[in-house]
Amino acid sequence: MINKKSREEIKLMRMAGNIVALVHKEMANVIEPGISTLELDKIAYDIIKKNKAIPTFLGYCGYPNSICASVNEEVVHGIPSADRILKEGDIVSIDVGATFRGLVGDGAWTYPVGKISDECAHLMEITKNALFAGIKQMIPENKLENVSAAIEDVALEGKCGIVRQYGGHGVGREMHEEPFLFNYRTNSNVIIKKNCAIAIEPMLNLGCDDVHTLSDGWTVITNDKKPSAHFEHTVIASEDGPLIMTELM
Ligand code: MF3
Ligand code: CO
Repeated sequence: MINKKSREEIKLMRMAGNIVALVHKEMANVIEPGISTLELDKIAYDIIKKNKAIPTFLGYCGYPNSICASVNEEVVHGIPSADRILKEGDIVSIDVGATFRGLVGDGAWTYPVGKISDECAHLMEITKNALFAGIKQMIPENKLENVSAAIEDVALEGKCGIVRQYGGHGVGREMHEEPFLFNYRTNSNVIIKKNCAIAIEPMLNLGCDDVHTLSDGWTVITNDKKPSAHFEHTVIASEDGPLIMTELM
């Protein structure tokens, strides 16, 4: 069942999304060579708490932190660590969830650390473009597959690998609700309902599509160890067009 959100729920998701956006604004300020991913986690936790929200990820299936911080070949679910010091040329994907009065905002962004290679800049650009191409398709009564297709087209045009084991998802009172959103074409006939909320989150690679999970049970890395990028917004398909929840108000 795909849940349609009420006006009140949309208002609260906008609040939750704004808190996610505040965290990202601060991440953009503080990410530089020398900072550890655990310091980033602490900064995110403090902002979420100060805004009277709950870090959605903390304790989710036993996850130990408030953000995921995935560096270079790490795709998603990188666990923050004091030993993981960012260095010039890295790229780091920060994924944040905030729950405000029972509603969830979920958003990720990949940041450059100092000066990065042209290839990494290209990967980030394409992944961000894929996200926004997907968002454009968030129109009531459109096929959800058109979101997937838009993402796939941008990825292939940019010659990036598409992570296939993970994808976007419905979001609202739970972080993960129906439907699952593939980041490539499938033959699904799911229709985007008016006022449904979906976290759209392409994960693209400079190399091959394939990824695997490390023995920590969380960190997902590319099989070829080439860099990966991740951009995510929580989006509502309103009758006036796509509404991005996870931007600054
Ligand atoms: N934000 C991720 C997603 O979009 C989930 C993070 S997993 C967690 O699915 F365990 F860290 F919560
Ligand atoms: Co998500």
